[in-house]
Amino acid sequence: MLAVYAKGPEFADPLSALMIGERPEPVVPDGWVRVRISAASLNRHDLWTLRGVGVHPLKFPTILGCDGAGVLDDGSEIVLYPVITSTNWCSDETLDPGYSVFSEIHQGTLADYVVAPRRNVLPRPESLSPVSAAALGTAWLTAYRMLFSKSGLQPGMTMLIQGASGGVATALIQLGRAAGMEVWVTGRTDKKRAAAEQLGAHRTFAPGEALPNRGDAVFESVGEATWAHSLESVRRGGTIVVVGMTSGNNPPANILRIFVEQIAIVGSAMGTLQDMRNLIQFVVTSGIVPKIGLTLPLREATEGFRAMWEDRTSGKVVFTR
Ligand SMILES: NC(=O)c1ccc[n+]([C@@H]2O[C@H](COP(=O)([O-])OP(=O)(O)OC[C@H]3O[C@@H](n4cnc5c(N)ncnc54)[C@H](OP(=O)(O)O)[C@@H]3O)[C@@H](O)[C@H]2O)c1
Repeated sequence: MLAVYAKGPEFADPLSALMIGERPEPVVPDGWVRVRISAASLNRHDLWTLRGVGVHPLKFPTILGCDGAGVLDDGSEIVLYPVITSTNWCSDETLDPGYSVFSEIHQGTLADYVVAPRRNVLPRPESLSPVSAAALGTAWLTAYRMLFSKSGLQPGMTMLIQGASGGVATALIQLGRAAGMEVWVTGRTDKKRAAAEQLGAHRTFAPGEALPNRGDAVFESVGEATWAHSLESVRRGGTIVVVGMTSGNNPPANILRIFVEQIAIVGSAMGTLQDMRNLIQFVVTSGIVPKIGLTLPLREATEGFRAMWEDRTSGKVVFTR
């Protein structure tokens, strides 16, 4: 079958590890189902995998892709929940020390077929196209949990999102706006800031720019480049929800500010199966159409990866059959 895969870790030049070609069709374990992928989306996670971050070297070659929508052998249209737990784990999926997402332990979704535990396939609502549904995994699920479970925000409160154009950032803009938040966004170019405003941001700022007043919560996926600004931009007693470190992992923590201002630093990872169900329901009932900047045939996936590596994306990148 056709697949997009990583041949091995290439930290400095991840695109040189990217392969598009034939891979064996997956065998279906007991209790799992086979999904014929209709659409699958790209995440920064796929670049981390190509760079060898979070993947054991013995796992290569590995088919990339955490998210997707497709069709089961019985014809049912489904969307994938990306978090695969250990056998018999029956609590919050994200707290399972053995959890993984597609492409880590099990083969990923950027292929003609993927196999998934039966509990990981959810019905795709008719009003959600396969392309929109494929966007709703990793980035959107993470954004949903950040906003609705971790931030403590109530409608009318102010959220600052670090980054304007990424998958997590655009999901936060659309979800935050639909949930009645005052949505503020930092973006690195005029074009990215204008796109964020079009998507629903009330106000946009250049990275590091002083805000008119401090926000109730800051949404951090950028890391080193924005951390100091995040600490300055949250009000006393506010919350910074952290999910990523795209620009680096080791900013000065500024402990003094954290305790004097009583800032809650809250980590978050992916979301539960119930979060995924709630996300789908929220998107459908609020009429959100997830922002997709680029749709390409799977065979031409390299251009999507290059766009992300060169910071040229605008919302999600989705690959179709
Ligand atoms: N914890 C979890 O479960 C989880 C789940 C999903 C994602 N993540 C992490 O979250 C991060 C974002 O993922 P994604 O899929 O949304 O990636 P993405 O689509 O590539 O988006 C990257 C974002 O980072 C911003 N950015 C990158 N470098 C920057 C810099 N030097 N200064 C300012 N902003 C910068 C970009 O802002 P501009 O718009 O200004 O370019 C853009 O919004 C990644 O680190 C990913 O690993 C974690």
